[in-house]
Amino acid sequence: SDEELQERIRAAKSRLGKKLLILGHFYQRDEIICHADFVGDSFQLAKNATERPDADHIVFCGVHFMAETADILSTPEQTVTLPNLSAGCSMADMANIDQVEECWQQLGEICGTQPGSDGRQQIVPVTYMNSSAALKAFCGRNGGIVCTSSNAHAVLEWAFARGKRVLFFPDQHLGRNTARAMGIPLEEMPLWDPFKPAGGAEDPSVYANAKMILWKGFCSVHQRFTVEQIERARKAYPGVKVIVHPECAMDVVDAADGTGSTAYIVKEIANAPSGSAVAVGTEINLVNRLAAQYPDKTVFCLDPVVCPCSTMYRIHPAYLAWALENIEQGNIVNRITVDDATARDAKIALQRMLEVHP
Ligand code: 13P
Ligand code: SF4
Repeated sequence: SDEELQERIRAAKSRLGKKLLILGHFYQRDEIICHADFVGDSFQLAKNATERPDADHIVFCGVHFMAETADILSTPEQTVTLPNLSAGCSMADMANIDQVEECWQQLGEICGTQPGSDGRQQIVPVTYMNSSAALKAFCGRNGGIVCTSSNAHAVLEWAFARGKRVLFFPDQHLGRNTARAMGIPLEEMPLWDPFKPAGGAEDPSVYANAKMILWKGFCSVHQRFTVEQIERARKAYPGVKVIVHPECAMDVVDAADGTGSTAYIVKEIANAPSGSAVAVGTEINLVNRLAAQYPDKTVFCLDPVVCPCSTMYRIHPAYLAWALENIEQGNIVNRITVDDATARDAKIALQRMLEVHP
């Protein structure tokens, strides 16, 4: 039963004691979150993974790219387990290393590969945290960097100080929303479609004239939110504050009152006055938890029907109980390991991010 599973997790966790560190992303279900030692957004959890070198085992309740990042940043002795290996991220899967290498080569032919007279690179690659370790390593090798939704602005400033253009992957929306807020015009942000010849542009000079080349990826959860939903929320709750994640499309971000990472959304709701209403454009597990936490405020999701992240949801308590009981017996199941060469290069790009935004 559900209660038996909860009891098995509690018991295994207490027997493992300080040897175990459980990390939980905000989008995890409540029955998982209640066991996490740290709960946070992807940036916070990447840092938390470095904070307990005394823990032999890190169990990451989140998705695959987050567990890979924890493996890269933790000590070589620590093991990282993803309780269900099918907890991936459809957005991260929208860019693979072969596609990125091919794009890089073609852009090099269009834009040149030698630094300009000011010493800046022709293109700086920036990958969203929501990407495989191979893409982070690509950025590490090519003068690039990683960003998350909580530091994309600061990271892009770093990138533009070093390059004439940025190639941003895999999320077009985070890239477009952040670059636009920095004053870059939309005409200077062409899309790169990895499934079309030459990125899909009829005239390749659009890439040479670009400031920001956006990979054509998206989050299937956040792309569901619409301007109509915001209009409906404003009608139903006059004075409502609308906040959305920057993985939402640009027209949705424009129609909202604020945009930011999951950590920003948590803070905004905590700071909203008692009696006020907040409509949120992000994953439903987080929104429902915040609604329960602040019964004095009306907190609701813009799309109340279907917007859980189905892969985050794959971390069911049965997998967590199974993983912990195995670890207790010295059997490290579902271990996530990044090979040494990839980890070394990916760490360079991650550390650049941590220096820009500690
Ligand atoms: P953050 O945790 O960086 O806000 O990202 C949201 C998300 O989509 C995680 O997969
Ligand atoms: Fe990936 Fe979107 Fe789910 Fe985040 S919410 S893990 S970006 S599919």
